[in-house]
Amino acid sequence: MDKICILDMGSQYTHLIARRIREYGVYSEILPNDISIDELKQYKPIGIVLSGGPSSVYEEFSPQLSEAFFTYTIEEKIPVLGICYGFHLIIHQLGGKIKPFSHKEYGKTKLEILQPGKLLDSLDKEEIVWMSHGDQVESMPEGFEILANTSTCPIAAYVNEDLKLYGVQFHPEVMHTQKGAIILQNFIEKIVHAKKEWKLKNWIEDAIEKVKKEVGPNNRVILGLSGGVDSSVVAILLQKAIGNRLHCIFVNNGLLRKNEEIEVTEAFKQGLRFNNFHYVDAEDLFLEKLKGIEDPEEKRRIIGHTFIEVFENKTIELEKAHPDIKYLAQGTIYPDRVETSATSNVSVKIKSHHNLTLPDDMKLKIIEPLKDLYKDEVRKIGLQLGLPENIIKRHPFPGPGLAIRIIGPIEKEKLSILRDADEILIQEIKKAGVYDNLWQAFCVFLPLKTVGIMGDFRTYEYICAIRVVESLDVMTANFAKLDWDLLEKISTRIINEVKGINRVVYDISHKPPSTIEYE
Ligand code: XMP
Repeated sequence: MDKICILDMGSQYTHLIARRIREYGVYSEILPNDISIDELKQYKPIGIVLSGGPSSVYEEFSPQLSEAFFTYTIEEKIPVLGICYGFHLIIHQLGGKIKPFSHKEYGKTKLEILQPGKLLDSLDKEEIVWMSHGDQVESMPEGFEILANTSTCPIAAYVNEDLKLYGVQFHPEVMHTQKGAIILQNFIEKIVHAKKEWKLKNWIEDAIEKVKKEVGPNNRVILGLSGGVDSSVVAILLQKAIGNRLHCIFVNNGLLRKNEEIEVTEAFKQGLRFNNFHYVDAEDLFLEKLKGIEDPEEKRRIIGHTFIEVFENKTIELEKAHPDIKYLAQGTIYPDRVETSATSNVSVKIKSHHNLTLPDDMKLKIIEPLKDLYKDEVRKIGLQLGLPENIIKRHPFPGPGLAIRIIGPIEKEKLSILRDADEILIQEIKKAGVYDNLWQAFCVFLPLKTVGIMGDFRTYEYICAIRVVESLDVMTANFAKLDWDLLEKISTRIINEVKGINRVVYDISHKPPSTIEYE
């Protein structure tokens, strides 16, 4: 399959480049910028993109490419597109000059196209593009031609047709560059001539065959199934490949939403006919271990360890009946795996993930069938494989569950109050038809009592906070500006129907500086 590789120079947009290329139908992979030439050759890229990045080419420890890189791409006639930092790097390494700009240019800018070449083909004379840079190209080596400029940036796009090197100062991968998709399409179609071979249907057939081959005709696979999108898609994919030789372990840690354990069990056991769905009720164990614990990280640690303990015990029990359990499947997806390579002073925060790591002595081999996919691709595959929509469209739910939505120590009574309030919130949000537009919506239990009045009586009860956010990439999120009438209905129902709450507040904080969860 034709493949375009992206060398990651540390930009927060690197994943966007890969996604855009895949959306177009061509397979793309992100690789670290210090990959050796021999390794790079093994990927057999037919086109390469150098991403943007926060460094300056003259900085110590900034990412650089080897001479061998250019020898390889030029000899093999592999087109290279540099974006922002990548745009500077090509010029810098081939003998041109980069200079610091007097101020950082950030935001939408008018681009004037002097000559379109293949890269800017079918764009208008003027286009709006998204800039985010401090440095500029001052002079270019021989053979490079300017394609476009802006009022403050005399060289905003270039080409060297002989060496098949192309570059843009701006970011074609972000939505704010209005014709960005056309520029990437021009690169893929008119410069790289890549075939559109990346189709999810083919991926599914291949993945099923691969699992069948790897696991063989007799071995069994174990999977921790949470009911979230990723593990659910792995489950259904494995079921198609090896049928009942898949054993799913669902752990009720006592920190789930209302009736979640029932819904997941019904969906998989009855709905999707998973014969080896093993439900483990570990509520008491988790709550006992969490007794009196206030610190959020301590809660996470205890929950993580307890989960492994429970999962391990269940696996050992199953192994006694089925010694041919040889594999452990995981729902790792592409962004979990690709760490944006830390370059110079760049530190990109990577979210901690809760994939399971079992002790080595269990000697289970890991399979991760979704490891090359993005979340939206995983969702599409789930739908194609027949997973119910309510599982596919579910809002993300954190591994530590309600434990990080109850501030301070966790108690059964608080969990019960929170579950009831949360159920009302989700019901009303679904009824109003806005659930699918939101990233997450949930209630938080604040262990603060305030005074209220109900009928003729004074009350002294807890506060429930409502957190509803919109987000595209989880790194940033805005609180959702829900309709006042809808908020009124939610608040009235929670206060009237949930015993223990007499006040509801709406969280109006964005991320950053706040986080989505409270702990
Ligand atoms: P924050 O609170 O960091 O959350 O803005 C970002 C996203 O990550 C989820 N989240 C977690 N997921 N284990 C998880 O599996 C965790 O410990 C955890 N903490 C936060 C959160 O729900 C949101 O989608």
